[in-house]
Amino acid sequence: MKEVPIEKALTYIEPGPVVLVTTSDGRKNNVMTISWTMAIDFDQHIVLTTGEWNYSFGTMMRTRECVICIPPAQMIDKVIRIGTVSGVDTDKFSLFHLKALPAQTVQAPLLDGCIACLECKVTDYIERYGFVVLKVMRVVENRDCTDQRMIHARGDGTFTADGETFNCRKLMADKLPPGL
Ligand SMILES: Cc1cc2nc3c(=O)[nH]c(=O)nc-3n(C[C@H](O)[C@H](O)[C@H](O)COP(=O)(O)O)c2cc1C
Repeated sequence: MKEVPIEKALTYIEPGPVVLVTTSDGRKNNVMTISWTMAIDFDQHIVLTTGEWNYSFGTMMRTRECVICIPPAQMIDKVIRIGTVSGVDTDKFSLFHLKALPAQTVQAPLLDGCIACLECKVTDYIERYGFVVLKVMRVVENRDCTDQRMIHARGDGTFTADGETFNCRKLMADKLPPGL
């Protein structure tokens, strides 16, 4: 995992991938699957939608931090299964053979085998909508990951992987943030 400029955070959240969110209470690591995420500005603020029905939520609120990991398409089965059991009674790192790597700005771990990880601090929680507002503190990429396709949920139990890329950077020139 190699640190890259913080501006790259947007390129992982703007496409709306299914992500794995890690938390740590200092004794145990946990991970959950999240498909509802959103970029909200060019200053590395992002939102994920969750609530107290998830075990991760309590840890996230108490520690005020988490790591958003971007899994490759080839991890799809594991990604879904992670989102069907709870850390309240399961050690998901052991059950799913996940390898935790140390982060630098938060206690929650990076996930080995993911395309990239975003170390985040919680800045706000809007209870009415379950919006957890995060500020990305550090971005690392795994360029050795042979599968760089992100996963996208279609909302009906089917998923797609990244496909064709259209390079419209010239047309978009006025709209691109500095650093990207
Ligand atoms: C594909 C997929 C997407 C999910 N997206 C979300 C989401 O956006 N928000 C949410 O709160 N839960 C979502 N979940 C459910 C949580 O991942 C699930 O409740 C998980 O068991 C929570 O784990 P925890 O109790 O260890 O925190 C999703 C599950 C799957 C399988």
